[in-house]
Amino acid sequence: MKKSLAARSIGAIAIVTALTASLAGCSASGSDGGSTDGLTLGFSQVGAESGWRTANTASVQESAKTAGIDLKFSDAQQKQENQIKAIRSFIQQNVDVIAFSPVVESGWDTVLKEAKAAGIPVVLTDRAVDSADETLYESFIGSDFVEEGEKAGDWVVDEFADADSVTIAELQGTTGSAPAVDRQEGFADVIGEDSKFEIVASQSGDFTRSGGKQVTEAILKSNPDIDLIFAHNDDMALGAIEALEAAGKKPGTDVKIVSIDAVKDGMTALSEGQINFIVECSPLLGDQLMETVEKVAAGEEVEKRIVTEETTFDQEQATAALPDRKY
Ligand code: AHR
Repeated sequence: MKKSLAARSIGAIAIVTALTASLAGCSASGSDGGSTDGLTLGFSQVGAESGWRTANTASVQESAKTAGIDLKFSDAQQKQENQIKAIRSFIQQNVDVIAFSPVVESGWDTVLKEAKAAGIPVVLTDRAVDSADETLYESFIGSDFVEEGEKAGDWVVDEFADADSVTIAELQGTTGSAPAVDRQEGFADVIGEDSKFEIVASQSGDFTRSGGKQVTEAILKSNPDIDLIFAHNDDMALGAIEALEAAGKKPGTDVKIVSIDAVKDGMTALSEGQINFIVECSPLLGDQLMETVEKVAAGEEVEKRIVTEETTFDQEQATAALPDRKY
């Protein structure tokens, strides 16, 4: 169908305007406030389930801005289908690089193959996928979650060295997620060496404070005398504290608590003696992610696995670290 003269004139004006903008260096602001001069990164975040996640999102957004990377940010609200949709949308928009923190480990091969076919490199951040084909992503930046579970287990073994029997409730993270699977494994490997340790209840609180509270309330009904709670993150430990107090128990004294993350709220509870030990899991992955994104976009070699360095905190160490804690 032939276009009218008016329509063709409007089209020509639009092309000239677009060309002028592009020749002028495209100084318009990106979708997240960053410059559009450089690369475009499509980032699919898990959600906003925890203090850790909030800090991780801020780190990614700030680092993208500093690096001049145009960040297209999408929040999956802890649903895998939302992440798959976001990744497909990034492919359609032809972004330079896609990064995501997979809500669960399995079920990614199809969409990752689509990204590969479109020639868009993918970087995993924070959480892994269980795909057998490692060519589907360039790099995985994040913590060693098995080691985190082991560190929690090591503390439990020391803390209860003189006890004859120890009953444990485990508050698991999101079912099927890498941190829940790996932390459970690392912890079980360590405490499994001594039969006096018994995990009497193990349920998912989905890494949320409300989930941790609900699960602890339910566990206390059938196991009112547990000795220890191992929470896969601080938020669930904080929920457990509320449930223990409501049941008339003193958290950190009547029931010991060990958790993972070391976010400010968790560290405050540790410093006040309501949590007994925390294994750090750093959410500050933004700078490493942007460096890796720039390298893969430039076709440079990157490490397939970049492991975050982390420590542990007891009560005294938490009190000392709190004033300078960034998240
Ligand atoms: O994947 C990292 C985990 O996810 C953190 O430990 C937890 O707090 C978050 O929700």
